[in-house]
Amino acid sequence: MALASALLQVMLDAVRKTARPMLRDFGEVSQLQVSRKGPGDFVTAADLKAEDTLYELLMKARPGYGFLGEERGMIEGTDKSHTWIVDPIDGTTNFMHAMPHFAITVGLERRAPDGSSEIVAGVTYNPVMNELFWAEKGKGCYLNDQRIRVAGRRDLSESLIATGLPFIGKSGHAQAIKDIHAIGQRVAGIRRLGSAALDFAWVAAGRYDAFYERGLKPWDVAAGILFVTEAGGSVTTIEADGDPKTGVSILASNSELHPQLRKVLQAS
Ligand code: IPD
Repeated sequence: MALASALLQVMLDAVRKTARPMLRDFGEVSQLQVSRKGPGDFVTAADLKAEDTLYELLMKARPGYGFLGEERGMIEGTDKSHTWIVDPIDGTTNFMHAMPHFAITVGLERRAPDGSSEIVAGVTYNPVMNELFWAEKGKGCYLNDQRIRVAGRRDLSESLIATGLPFIGKSGHAQAIKDIHAIGQRVAGIRRLGSAALDFAWVAAGRYDAFYERGLKPWDVAAGILFVTEAGGSVTTIEADGDPKTGVSILASNSELHPQLRKVLQAS
């Protein structure tokens, strides 16, 4: 990619390399080794293998950085200034069902001496569609070689909104149903495709007008927060205070729709 820095190039190469064996496993539904982590929450051998590959490639480039992965948790580094934040397959359930909507996603978080932190680089790759979303702080957001921007819609009644729905056995399910009911009365459509990382990327590309979800994790949102802000949108928690990087509550859209959606969700 023409504009990518050397470090971003490392991230791009890492996700492309990680994708190769994943694509060989994709579609082999009966061959996948699947374990259940909790209600409606699965991990396959492909997730574990992909996280190992990402760990190896990213840590080789920056050996001192910390590494936070969905499957292996936090591995502290000697250099506390940066942490790789990784979801090897965001959309594991889709992957298990041979649905081509999942992604490898990597964010790079930089921590300042005062303890504040920000995401400075991110990549999200859907290998089946060969769609590689990437951004660096202050340099815009890209899909493959094309610069992308959030959609310009201002009217909630014309907008298409993405969200997630926790499994019925998980806390947050009842609230998510209430949110869908409240939002669904005001918008043109709601989609739940099953990959938060791609939901953000699709907001950045203007395919969706907004994405909201409660109960996500840092690895689901790291790259995506940077994508939407670099594509000209706004990302906050639904409550508007607190740090969206935790993933606990997320609202991402253009700045016209953002306050309208926040009002509806805060009241639901
Ligand atoms: C899941 C996806 C899904 C979201 C879930 C996440 P995973 O990630 O992002 O869209 O609704 O909350 O856990 O488990 O497939 O990596």
